[in-house]
Amino acid sequence: MTQDELKKQVAEAALKYAQEGVIGVGSGSTVNFFIDALATIKGRIEGAVAASENSAARLKGHGIKVFDLNSVNDLAVYVDGADEVTENLHMIKGGGGALTREKIVAAVARKFVCICDASKLVPVLGKFPLPVEVIPMARSYVGREIVKLGGLPELRQGFTTDNGNLVLDCRGMTLLDPPKTEGGINQIAGVVTNGIFARRPADVLLLASAQGIRTIQK
Ligand code: 5RP
Repeated sequence: MTQDELKKQVAEAALKYAQEGVIGVGSGSTVNFFIDALATIKGRIEGAVAASENSAARLKGHGIKVFDLNSVNDLAVYVDGADEVTENLHMIKGGGGALTREKIVAAVARKFVCICDASKLVPVLGKFPLPVEVIPMARSYVGREIVKLGGLPELRQGFTTDNGNLVLDCRGMTLLDPPKTEGGINQIAGVVTNGIFARRPADVLLLASAQGIRTIQK
């Protein structure tokens, strides 16, 4: 099975969590498969809240109504991918640069369903460079502070987030205490947010491999 086939399979498996109301939708290639699957039941749902402009465009392309998060009081479920995930449902996200909006929509949702192919499961987070969204004028300062924490920050070239900010991809950060590091980096002035999702972890992880879909939940 190819990685894309696994992504499609896990995206379709997530549909059972998204059967009615407004659905929170993340971003990335796995989520693109989820959006395509969602289109097959679009008559049943009210619409979606999107965590990126790309996802919003894809949803609208399928004729699925996209709501502003501010107009939605309750979000039962949020479905998103991850760049790395552990068995205790902590994640690194933001490979696509949508980490801040993803973290906001995840915060609102009552249930976070993470969908991945099995290559994303790791024993310890940190091999994937940690994305940190920064206000442009704080780029160098934040970079120096990340170095003090043991990371090697690199500016993502030619990339601006949907919020008009920059992303530093930080290598060399073995995350032995993800909630602590998440909070610590977010305290640096000029950081909008970082891609550790541990203070609000996933509630359900669906992992696709050649053996089928494995479900891990708290
Ligand atoms: C985007 C993300 C994505 O969820 C993450 O990068 C995984 O993407 P993909 O499904 O393409 O592997 O956090 O900001």
